[in-house]
This record gives sequence, structure tokens and C-alpha cells, in this order.
Amino acid sequence: MAARDTSFILVGLLVLFHTWGAWADVKVKMEDRVEVFRGEPAQIACTFTSSDGIGGMIIQWFYVNRLGEKQKIYLQNSTMNVTDSGTPFTQRISVNGTGADGEILLTISDVQPEDELEFICLIKTLTDGTAEGRTKLKVFATPDHPTIEGVQTGISINEEIPSKIGTCEVKNGYPKPNITWYRNNTPIRGAQDVVKAVQTITTESSGLYSVKSELNMKVMKVDVQAQFYCEVTYFIPKESRMTETNRINITVYYPTTSVIILVESPKGKIKEGDSIELHCYVNGNMPSSIITISHEESGDYWENKSVVLENVTRQNSGYYYCNSTDTESNSFEEVSGNTMVFVNYLDPAVVKPENVEVLQGDELMATCNALSSLQTQTVWFKDGKKLSMGHSLNLKNATIETAGTYMCVVTVSEIEGMETKGTLTVNVQGPPQILGPDFREVQKSSGEMVNLSCDVIGYPAPTVVWYTSDGKSHEAASETDTKGVIHSVVNITITSDITAICNASNNFGTVALTFNIIASKRTPRPDTTTTNTAVSTTPNKVKKAEGKGVIIAVIIICILLLAILGSVLYFLYKKGKICGRSGKQDLTKEVSSKDNIVVEMKSDNTEEAVLLGVNGEKLPPSN
Ligand SMILES: *[C@@H]1O[C@H](CO)[C@@H](O)[C@H](O)[C@H]1NC(C)=O
Ligand SMILES: *[C@@H]1O[C@H](CO)[C@@H](O)[C@H](O)[C@H]1NC(C)=O
Ligand SMILES: *[C@@H]1O[C@H](CO)[C@@H](O)[C@H](O)[C@H]1NC(C)=O
Ligand SMILES: *[C@@H]1O[C@H](CO)[C@@H](O)[C@H](O)[C@H]1NC(C)=O
Ligand SMILES: *[C@@H]1O[C@H](CO)[C@@H](O)[C@H](O)[C@H]1NC(C)=O
Ligand SMILES: *[C@@H]1O[C@H](CO)[C@@H](O)[C@H](O)[C@H]1NC(C)=O
Ligand SMILES: *[C@@H]1O[C@H](CO)[C@@H](O)[C@H](O)[C@H]1NC(C)=O
Ligand SMILES: *[C@@H]1O[C@H](CO)[C@@H](O)[C@H](O)[C@H]1NC(C)=O
Ligand SMILES: *[C@@H]1O[C@H](CO)[C@@H](O)[C@H](O)[C@H]1NC(C)=O
Ligand SMILES: *[C@@H]1O[C@H](CO)[C@@H](O)[C@H](O)[C@H]1NC(C)=O
Ligand SMILES: *[C@@H]1O[C@H](CO)[C@@H](O)[C@H](O)[C@H]1NC(C)=O
Ligand SMILES: *[C@@H]1O[C@H](CO)[C@@H](O)[C@H](O)[C@H]1NC(C)=O
Repeated sequence: MAARDTSFILVGLLVLFHTWGAWADVKVKMEDRVEVFRGEPAQIACTFTSSDGIGGMIIQWFYVNRLGEKQKIYLQNSTMNVTDSGTPFTQRISVNGTGADGEILLTISDVQPEDELEFICLIKTLTDGTAEGRTKLKVFATPDHPTIEGVQTGISINEEIPSKIGTCEVKNGYPKPNITWYRNNTPIRGAQDVVKAVQTITTESSGLYSVKSELNMKVMKVDVQAQFYCEVTYFIPKESRMTETNRINITVYYPTTSVIILVESPKGKIKEGDSIELHCYVNGNMPSSIITISHEESGDYWENKSVVLENVTRQNSGYYYCNSTDTESNSFEEVSGNTMVFVNYLDPAVVKPENVEVLQGDELMATCNALSSLQTQTVWFKDGKKLSMGHSLNLKNATIETAGTYMCVVTVSEIEGMETKGTLTVNVQGPPQILGPDFREVQKSSGEMVNLSCDVIGYPAPTVVWYTSDGKSHEAASETDTKGVIHSVVNITITSDITAICNASNNFGTVALTFNIIASKRTPRPDTTTTNTAVSTTPNKVKKAEGKGVIIAVIIICILLLAILGSVLYFLYKKGKICGRSGKQDLTKEVSSKDNIVVEMKSDNTEEAVLLGVNGEKLPPSN
């Protein structure tokens, strides 16, 4: 105690001495703060002035712990140096310099956030006393790039409390980074019940800070297009920096205030049979709202934004409503829009009369009507040819050509493809008519078959019968009726010149078509039937065998017979017993024999044909 007092007095004296002379007090100079990145070495310099040499000088380094207590970490005097063991810096500090040049440098390697402390450099001299300097160590860590996450669910503008918009997070920063929310490049200012950004700060095991900010706000319709992002501010040695997240947008649900319903297709006028597509346009997007399309007249109802009505009829005409009801809002507000749909129609054409019979020369009136919602045009056609326009058809002075099928086509010019047709069948009563000349000539070889055909028109349909001049009637091989033209075919085997008659008759009269058939001898066709060939060849062979003698004998016999006949006739004449009636009969027989001519072929080279009557009389070839 006494020794201490003595030394105190000594020091005091020394001080006094110094003050008096050169004022030799120890002075320490240090920077206020040293800023350094985490993980890097921090250098804290301590400069001092003292009149003393370093001989009696003691240099000590301390730090101030969290409780405000000074903790020594290092000591050095002229002969030795000691690093205190058991401090957080034991392994990480080094001191450069002896202090001889008034400067000493403390180096802390691998600086960590916990190292953000105050460091003290204490200089103790023998005579100049003691002085200390303080430096705050500031540690900085650049945070990771910030992230942002928006809510995936949509947010309704009807929400009463602020809804979560998204979360921003920035990790591993030191000191604490700041997060600021932006909407469309404008910082979002906190307003108590509208916007709220809640920050959560986490201290990582490394001592670094992670900051999370959740934005809650009431959305408005304009926020549909809003872009949200976060700006992060952080410090690095000597400056502050900023970084931004990417932008997000949110789904905003807003109620419908207006509804429009439109016919999407077809564009323009609608006709029966069309498919109509109705679409409802609403200016809201609340998932809780129900959109319905309904048809007032029929009560039809669809819970859909669009509906396709297929094959519509006039019953589909009327008002279509689109109603949007918000089931979530308390008011259950309903917004409605409507459109008028008109389905145009064209009923089947009604022809009056449909079937008509008129007498030749009479006048005929017919009408064709089709009920339609639009103006119609009617055109009458016959056999594909346009006859007249207008819904009534007037036919004057009916002839057989007037008969047939008439068609009326009703169209709507405003809508393409709207058309209906009706038919009118006209029958003109009158006697039958033969189509083509009523006298024809046909040449055929005897024994051949000839096909004769006869086309007749007339109403009522005439009956066609065939017969030949020999009194025989023939059944038609075929008879067809195509559009009132009766085509009758008969096949007749020719034996001699003959007349065939096609007789067509109905209530109004009779017509006949005469075929004059000439059984030709000159040009026997090579394809004559075998029977025919047999008939003509057999007599040829007989004649060849008999020769001229036979002919002479026959002629003589004939002359003798004529002579006998002559004498008999003469004898009868003389007796006055001739009968006129029998003569008449003979004459008829002679006429009819003409029809029964037989062709006989001569085999000789002259090819002279000899015609023989039934009675064996020789006739000149010209006959
Ligand atoms: C330096 O300090 C040590 C330990 O305190 C001491 O033993 C030594 O004598 C001192 N040296 C001088 C020159 O003061
Ligand atoms: C501290 O002492 C060691 C040896 O004990 C020596 O190598 C070093 O240079 C000394 N440092 C200072 C600053 O005197
Ligand atoms: C000590 O200081 C001297 C001079 O200032 C320098 O050359 C040397 O590299 C330093 N050593 C350390 C370990 O800092
Ligand atoms: C963070 O924001 C708070 C308040 O807005 C402010 O006091 C502080 O200085 C900011 N810090 C940084 C690192 O920007
Ligand atoms: C955000 O906007 C973009 C285009 O601006 C769009 O493609 C995307 O779907 C929107 N996302 C959300 C969630 O609204
Ligand atoms: C609604 O309409 C769409 C398209 O028109 C169709 O695909 C869907 O099946 C309809 N929904 C109902 C419930 O009818
Ligand atoms: C359209 O409707 C009409 C009458 O309702 C019916 O006769 C016709 O077959 C329908 N057509 C189609 C293609 O469904
Ligand atoms: C739709 O709204 C209209 C007009 O408010 C109303 O007359 C109609 O009954 C509603 N239809 C349905 C299906 O609610
Ligand atoms: C009717 O037609 C016939 C034959 O075509 C003709 O002879 C007659 O004069 C016509 N009558 C009238 C009134 O036109
Ligand atoms: C004549 O008509 C009948 C029946 O129509 C037919 O079978 C035959 O082949 C025809 N003959 C000739 C030569 O045209
Ligand atoms: C018409 O000729 C054919 C042979 O060509 C025959 O089969 C048919 O019976 C004949 N018809 C009549 C009505 O004579
Ligand atoms: C045609 O036939 C009808 C009835 O079969 C008969 O009355 C009429 O005399 C015939 N006409 C001719 C020209 O043969």
C-alpha cells in the first residue's frame, strides 16, 4: 500500500514535471468503426503517442461483451506477448508490430456476425500514464437473391379483411435486410386496415438474418393488371445496396355488373334447321357466380355460359336471358341480359289443286302457296323449263301437250337455301294421239319376225290393241307407260304382205296406226330362220329333177283343163243357168287371194321368181 502510494506520488510528480516541460501524456487514436465482410479478416489499427520508449509499455487488447464487460484478449510488453486463451478470438487474432513505431495492428481472421463488437486498445506507460481507444467492428453479409411467391388462389374484391397477396423472403443477410413491397413501381405504404406487411425475422445458426415479409391487402379491380414485387435494401461496407424480386400478378375476382348475350352463329337471319350458338358475356369473374341461359317462352334452362341449339324450329324463337347470380355475396345480386332470337320458317308448299283433269280447250288455274315468315318468290316449272313467276299458274286452252307434271318452287331471297317445292299433275282429257306418223311401211323377208311399236298418248289412258288385216288380233309383247306415253310392242311373223293396225281407244275416241308390211322376196336376209330355208329349198330340188318336160306337160294339162272349162261354161251359158251371186263370191275370193301370196324361189341361174296364185294361176312378176 505504501509502495503504491509512493509510486503514485512519483507518477504525479512525473506528470507535473511533464506538464511543466513538454506535457508528455500518452495518446491513443483509433477509427470509430471498421467495416468488413463476413469471413474476411478485420484489421483494427491502434496508433499512439508517448514520450516513453516501449521499454515499460504494456499494450493490451480488449473487447466489450454483450453485457458491457471488458474482456482481455491480448497483452504484450517489450519482452513477450500473450494471447488470452478461452476467448472467442484466441485462435483468430494476430497482432503485428512491436509498438516501437507507435502503431499496432490487431487482425481478426474469418470475421463472423458475433464479432460485431467494440474493441479496445489500451496503452499503459510508465510515466505517460494509461490511455485507450475504441473501434466498433461492423460485419456485413450480402444476402441471397430475394424470392417472391404470390398466392395461387384468386382474391375477391369483396373480401372484408386484407387478403394475403404473397410472400417475399431474403436469406442470410447481415445486418438485417429491409423488405419493401411495391405495386406497379410504387412502394406500398401501410394503411392500417387496407395494407399490412408482416415481417418475420429469423436468425440463422450462422448468425445471419433471414427476413420474410407477407403482404396482406384489400384488392381492387385494377389489381387485375397490377404487378407486385419486393425491393430489398441491405448494407455492404461503406454503402447500401438494393435488389428486387421478379414481378408477380394475382388473380382478382370481381362481381358482374353487366351481362350481354349474343347469337354467335349463324350471323344474320336464322332459319329452321339451323344450329344456333348463344354466348353470354359477363364483365365479372367470380367463381361463385352462377351463369344461366334461359328461354322465356319454353322455360328451357342451361347452367352454362354458352349453349348450342341444334336444328331449331320456330318454337325456338323468343327472348333468351343470360342471368348471373352471385351466390357468395349476401345480396344474391342478379344481373341479367337478353336477346331476341327469331327463327324464320318456310312451310311446305301447298298446291291447289294437286291433281287435275281438264278437257281439251279448257282453262286451268292452280295456286302454290307456302307460309313463311319472310317474303317468298314462286316459280313454276314444267319438264325443267321455267314457265312463269308468281304463286298462281294459269293455263289456257289445254291441249294434250298441256298434260304433265308442273312444279312450283318457293324460295326466300333473304336466306339462301330456304326452299320448298310442290307438284301439280295435269291430265288433259281427250282422244288418244299417235306419236309420229300414223302410217308406216315395213319391209321384211317372209318368215321373219317383225317388231312393231306404237306410242300413244291420251287421257284417260287409252287401251291399245293390235290386229292384222287377216282378222287376227295380236297380243302386245310388251306395253309400258312412261309419263303418260304408252309404248306398245308387238311381234308378228311375216308370211305375206299384210297390214298391221295398232288401235288405241278411250272414252273420247279411237286412233289407229297402220303398218303396211311388205314381205320382200328380193333380199332374203342371210339370217332367215331354218324353217323358211327349208320351205324354199324343197321345191327347188323337186323342180330340178323334173326338168322342162314336166313344165310342158303341166302347160298342156292346163290348156286341156281350160278347154274343158270353156266348153262346160259354154254349155251352162247355153242352158241359161248362170248365177250372178256365185260370180260375186269368186270376185271376193280373188281379192282376198292377194293377201295370201306365197313366194316361191326358182333355183336356176336367172333367179326368176314366179308368183303363183292359190289356184295355181301364173301371175306376172310385177304384181
Ligand atoms: C513482461 O511481462 C511479463 C509477464 O507479466 C513479465 O514477467 C516481464 O518481466 C515483463 N517484461 C518487462 C520488460 O516488463
Ligand atoms: C510474440 O512472441 C512471439 C514469440 O514468443 C514472437 O515470435 C512474436 O514476434 C511476438 N509478437 C510481437 C508482436 O511482439
Ligand atoms: C506487419 O507489419 C509490417 C509492416 O507494416 C508488414 O510488412 C507485415 O506484413 C505485417 N505482418 C502481418 C502479419 O500483418
Ligand atoms: C429498414 O427500415 C427501417 C424502417 O423503415 C429503417 O429504420 C432501417 O434503417 C432500415 N434498414 C435498412 C437496412 O434499410
Ligand atoms: C400474370 O400476367 C401474365 C401476363 O401479363 C399472364 O400471362 C399470367 O397468366 C398472369 N398470372 C396470373 C397469376 O394472373
Ligand atoms: C357448357 O358449354 C361448353 C361449351 O359450349 C360444353 O363443353 C360444356 O359441356 C357445357 N357444360 C354444361 C354443364 O352443359
Ligand atoms: C330437325 O327437326 C325436324 C323436326 O323437328 C326433324 O324432322 C328433322 O329430322 C331434324 N333434323 C335433324 C338433322 O335432326
Ligand atoms: C333472368 O332475369 C330476368 C330479368 O331479371 C328474369 O325475368 C328471369 O326470370 C331470370 N331467369 C332466371 C332463369 O332466373
Ligand atoms: C286452242 O288451240 C287450238 C289448237 O292449238 C286452236 O286451234 C284454237 O284456236 C285455240 N283456241 C283458243 C281460244 O285459243
Ligand atoms: C321383238 O320384241 C321382243 C319382245 O319385246 C324381243 O324379245 C325380240 O328380241 C324383238 N325382236 C327383234 C328382232 O327386235
Ligand atoms: C315375241 O317374240 C319372242 C321371241 O323373239 C317370243 O318369245 C314372244 O313369245 C313373242 N311374243 C308374242 C306376243 O308373240
Ligand atoms: C279400235 O277398237 C275399238 C274398240 O276395240 C273399236 O271400236 C274400233 O272400231 C277400232 N277402230 C279401228 C279403226 O279399227
